[in-house]
Amino acid sequence: MKGEYTDVTRATRPAVKVITTEHVLPGDTNTHGTMFGGNVLALMDKTAAISALRFCRQLVVTASTERIDFRTPIRLGDIVEAQAWVIHTGRTSMIVRIDIWDERPLSGERELCTTGYYIFVSVDDQGRPREVPRLDVQTAEEEADWQRGEEIRADIKARQAL
Ligand SMILES: CC(C)(COP(=O)(O)OP(=O)(O)OC[C@H]1O[C@@H](n2cnc3c(N)ncnc32)[C@H](O)[C@@H]1OP(=O)(O)O)[C@@H](O)C(=O)NCCC(=O)NCCS
Repeated sequence: MKGEYTDVTRATRPAVKVITTEHVLPGDTNTHGTMFGGNVLALMDKTAAISALRFCRQLVVTASTERIDFRTPIRLGDIVEAQAWVIHTGRTSMIVRIDIWDERPLSGERELCTTGYYIFVSVDDQGRPREVPRLDVQTAEEEADWQRGEEIRADIKARQAL
């Protein structure tokens, strides 16, 4: 696996995809009759947090959200599906990719409507960062995801240096 952390004593683990499905009801929408962005973000955060938790089986906190693109609106009455999986690990942090799919309930037509990345840091019971397992990267798709994670880490480090 590529990356700056090469400690072979740390256990490696494969990413597990977490899928959350909801029906968009009137209380979930904005004045345009489409899903309220804050509710989309909450769905993304919860689903992504479960994928980070299942990956490391330790306490996690959200450290940042990165590159969230609301590509197309989600309509009232549609089925909304969040898919999240860990794409990159540092020493104590995990980068999770989240895709939001919109599905027309009668036709089954689906569209990728929102994408984003959430960073979680594992913490101990005092809130101090705690080491996580390393992500096991095997396939070309996983390698491409990992490279995207490296770019996101570089963006975070550049921002923190300001
Ligand atoms: C996230 C948090 C634990 C990091 O603590 P810290 O003392 O700044 O940690 P460090 O500087 O030692 O960095 C630890 C890891 O966090 C990452 N990190 C820190 N701040 C970050 C940020 N703003 N965005 C992304 N990653 C960040 C570092 O890159 C590092 O990752 P690595 O170990 O994989 O290299 C701390 O900032 C925090 O508790 N924030 C509040 C979290 C919260 O309340 N979330 C909302 C509700 S869950």
